[in-house]
Amino acid sequence: MTVPTTMKAAIVTAYGGPEVVEIQSRPVPIPRDDEILIKTIATTVNSGDARMRALDAPQGMKTLMRLAIGIIRPRQPIFGTEIAGTVVAAGPGVSRFAIGDEVIAFPGVGLRCHAEYVAVSERKPIAKRPENLSFEEAAGLCFGGTTALHFLRKANLKAGEHILVIGASGAVGSAMVQLAKHFSAKVTAVASAANANLALSLGADAFIDYAITDYTSTASAYDVIADTVGATRFQRCLKALKPGGRYLGIAGGVGDMLARPKDGKRPIAGMATEHPEDVAFLADLAAKGQYRVVIDQTFDFDDIAQAHARVDSKHKRGSVVVRMPQ
Ligand SMILES: NC(=O)c1ccc[n+]([C@@H]2O[C@H](COP(=O)([O-])OP(=O)(O)OC[C@H]3O[C@@H](n4cnc5c(N)ncnc54)[C@H](OP(=O)(O)O)[C@@H]3O)[C@@H](O)[C@H]2O)c1
Repeated sequence: MTVPTTMKAAIVTAYGGPEVVEIQSRPVPIPRDDEILIKTIATTVNSGDARMRALDAPQGMKTLMRLAIGIIRPRQPIFGTEIAGTVVAAGPGVSRFAIGDEVIAFPGVGLRCHAEYVAVSERKPIAKRPENLSFEEAAGLCFGGTTALHFLRKANLKAGEHILVIGASGAVGSAMVQLAKHFSAKVTAVASAANANLALSLGADAFIDYAITDYTSTASAYDVIADTVGATRFQRCLKALKPGGRYLGIAGGVGDMLARPKDGKRPIAGMATEHPEDVAFLADLAAKGQYRVVIDQTFDFDDIAQAHARVDSKHKRGSVVVRMPQ
């Protein structure tokens, strides 16, 4: 296949609403020694992309966010952390992948996935696409899945423990419900009533509608409380945690990061990091039919601003996918 010299990319021109995202022409990246060039078939707009675009930082972290990603506007204007596509070129030092391979790549904070072509080092998290996953499903495998894995490991969730997953129908929450069940935990899922069937179909043992029930009011109910939404705080969950309980502030800000353990219960916050073995683990689980990628909606690449708007609703189910014209 001949690789063109220019491509379409979604450029975040400023911080703001979805209207700041424009499709523009950019040079196709030339793969370096250890890089593969992937022709994107599908990518996602995830909550990380939408929060960076809107400069919607977790509580107390706006200045840090500007310093990290750009003071006036994003330094890297092409967002997007995950893709599924086909390898169309490779640097001379590449040994793990070949032209024609269908892959899932998760450059994560390296971004640049909202484009027709993406160059990624073969040392980054990349896996072959499981045949039973569509490209759309494959594109949505990593963001929620790797975040959930990271925090479940930090919590050292054990078989038989009871975990409360707040935001169980989102990208992180839908992954966390399934992975916690895979690790033989008991799962209670929290979302709105409209998402009860989805959460139960993912394996949750029980469901709580947050509009009706205050899940923090039951004493000593959970070994782990995973807040994927930022709906609560460690202090508010102390009563509901069992002795030795852990609170996962996945969408938490400075408050959760600085919180101190209390009564033998501890808060865990911070950023998930990307690991090749996590993507391989998720791809393997999906290939065995033991992990489902939940897709909310699929948008054409030219409509990527609408995909951002859908993520901004904060009520998507799983992943919002963007499909490239082929
Ligand atoms: N720390 C890290 O490294 C890291 C990594 C990835 C993501 N994150 C953060 O994690 C968060 C979740 O990401 P995501 O992609 O999973 O988001 P998402 O897909 O937008 O999740 C939405 C979920 O939140 C639920 N929800 C909305 N309002 C709620 C409320 N008041 N109470 C309880 N649940 C509520 C929704 O259910 P209903 O629609 O039924 O209301 C849905 O289940 C984001 O803030 C993201 O920035 C952090």
